[in-house]
Amino acid sequence: MGEGDSCFGSYCGCRPLDNGGAAGYRPLSSPTHHHSYPCWSSRRQYCGVLVLLAICCSGLYVVLYYHAAITSHSMLLMHRMRILGSDDTLMSTTPYMGPVLNGKWNSSELKSSEVYRSAMDNRSTVPLLTLFSSWADRPELEQVRNLTMQNWVRLKPAIVPVLFTNSSKLAGHAEAHGWFVMPVSRAAVGVPILKNMYLDAMAKFDSTLYAFSNGDILFTESLVDTLLAILGSPHLPLDTHSLLVVGQRINVPMVRPYEVTSFDGVARVARTRGKLFTTMAEDYFITDRTFPWEDIPGVVIGRAAYDNWLVLNAIKRQEVVVDATKTLLAVHQTTKAGNFEGFTHANSSYNNHLLTRMYKKIQYMAGCVDCSPWRTRKDSQGKVYVENVKIRPRHC
Ligand SMILES: *[C@@H]1O[C@H](CO)[C@@H](O)[C@H](O)[C@H]1NC(C)=O
Ligand SMILES: *[C@@H]1O[C@H](CO)[C@@H](O)[C@H](O)[C@H]1NC(C)=O
Ligand SMILES: *[C@@H]1O[C@H](CO)[C@@H](O)[C@H](O)[C@H]1NC(C)=O
Ligand SMILES: *[C@@H]1O[C@H](CO)[C@@H](O)[C@H](O)[C@H]1NC(C)=O
Ligand SMILES: *[C@@H]1O[C@H](CO)[C@@H](O)[C@H](O)[C@H]1NC(C)=O
Repeated sequence: MGEGDSCFGSYCGCRPLDNGGAAGYRPLSSPTHHHSYPCWSSRRQYCGVLVLLAICCSGLYVVLYYHAAITSHSMLLMHRMRILGSDDTLMSTTPYMGPVLNGKWNSSELKSSEVYRSAMDNRSTVPLLTLFSSWADRPELEQVRNLTMQNWVRLKPAIVPVLFTNSSKLAGHAEAHGWFVMPVSRAAVGVPILKNMYLDAMAKFDSTLYAFSNGDILFTESLVDTLLAILGSPHLPLDTHSLLVVGQRINVPMVRPYEVTSFDGVARVARTRGKLFTTMAEDYFITDRTFPWEDIPGVVIGRAAYDNWLVLNAIKRQEVVVDATKTLLAVHQTTKAGNFEGFTHANSSYNNHLLTRMYKKIQYMAGCVDCSPWRTRKDSQGKVYVENVKIRPRHC
């Protein structure tokens, strides 16, 4: 389960000139029927005026936006210090309410990602990321899951690993590996609903960011480096927009346990045996607390289509969507089942049916990783930075 690959096969709508993204897409707030947009109606005389107005407004917006981006504090600087004694106190009673400037924040206390890192190490601030997954009990995948569990736990204390499961056997394995366990509060066709895992994780664990990842993905410290660079970036309007970080994965066939006993090992198999996978699949979704999970349809994990839809929806809503492929290593442990598992499960088109019922035509190609308006890069010293993507592919 949990392979999330999508946009292959018949329901992809993968033709770039297919009527444009906007025509087939309706934003979250209006999932009900809506017959036509003003500019596509026959009343063309208004359209010229509207287009001119829109151009003026967007010009003004760009100017004001850059002014605001330059003058506002980065989210990292606004990150509050918290006194946390032990693992147990990660379970929050008063959840963190997002990056608000309400006097409780002391921007002079966190000056850089190095300071944040040492504050996490000595537990004087909340962890960076609550990273969760969920999988079914499939004996043939037990080794893959175990390698994932051993890998994620190495990223503590920056990362809090969580497994959503109702199986006491899987819960036992996860706890034996140092993971937290939560029950699956809502499921459809027997599979956990994505948004409820985010809502449950946010209610239970206090951290700056939250992410679902498929359960066969191995990470390295590049995950932490990339996220700290994004939070500390002076260019991103994170105090006014939500964040979504995605990226391509690297497929490595038949990963052996001895190959990935360290982050260096993970990087080595990626370098020597890995193949960068398509931009059409997303395996992890890193968001902040302000991401509108409440409003997201009840798509389930491990079945095609939800990944591209999430990304395309966030781009349309003008959230801060960052492509982290170039700096964040995500190794997919490819098994005999291959790289397109999301298409072979029972109910494989559950998400597509749900989404097309709500939004009619969906141009899934506009939700590819390379459609993100921002991306991460490394400078000559190997330091991660974020840049705006000026020219995006035509399929976006
Ligand atoms: C913020 O932190 C600095 C340095 O730790 C301290 O001097 C200052 O008093 C703090 N300000 C507030 C409002 O707590
Ligand atoms: C933890 O690390 C932060 C950042 O380096 C530092 O300001 C703070 O004094 C440290 N706290 C303790 C209890 O060591
Ligand atoms: C996976 O980990 C669990 C818990 O440590 C262990 O009981 C089980 O034997 C492991 N399975 C494999 C295939 O390594
Ligand atoms: C999982 O267990 C919880 C109670 O712990 C229950 O409310 C929920 O319905 C169960 N979910 C599934 C998918 O069975
Ligand atoms: C899900 O798959 C099962 C088994 O193939 C089938 O019986 C059921 O009707 C499907 N449900 C939906 C909502 O597609």
